[in-house]
Amino acid sequence: MRDPRRVAVLISGRGSNMRALVDKARNYDVVLVGSNKPAAEGLDWARQHRLATWSADSKGQTREEFDRQLSAALDEHDIGTIALAGFMRILSPWFVEQWRGRILNIHPSLLPKYPGLDTHARALDAGDTVCGCSVHIVTEELDAGEVLGQAEVPVRPGDTPESVEQRVLAAEHELYADVLSEFVKR
Ligand code: GRF
Repeated sequence: MRDPRRVAVLISGRGSNMRALVDKARNYDVVLVGSNKPAAEGLDWARQHRLATWSADSKGQTREEFDRQLSAALDEHDIGTIALAGFMRILSPWFVEQWRGRILNIHPSLLPKYPGLDTHARALDAGDTVCGCSVHIVTEELDAGEVLGQAEVPVRPGDTPESVEQRVLAAEHELYADVLSEFVKR
């Protein structure tokens, strides 16, 4: 039986949500930071903070080959919950099945609105007065699993996708740790 409080955070870039999950950890421990980009900026921060890291370049590998390596690394660290945080790679159905119900993601929109990319530009183009972010369970379908929590960010006059992104990102940092700390009690 996997212990849900042993969390791995998967990143592909700067890792600001990963840092927030480490700094605000309650009821869980981040025991591994993993990446499909060996040069991801967030991995340096994790190493400096003495967290275990794992990375492998996904280039040239099939989706499932990479996912099998990743899954083995997660098993080695007795991971119970996986938190995707800017992990820019679609997981194979094989991986999702292995970890069914134990993978969370943070997405910068109020799902079910705007799955995929360019969420803030799409929200502004649509004339939305409220933007936000969602934490959801990962399934085979992109950004479509059960929503566990959301934070709303009002749109202000003169907002651009960039200004909204900054405020939503700050909201993401609060929301993700709160939702994860409740989720691991399930
Ligand atoms: C965040 O906006 C997150 O919602 C999205 O990718 C971005 C990652 O940023 N999935 P960071 O690497 O956590 O700073």
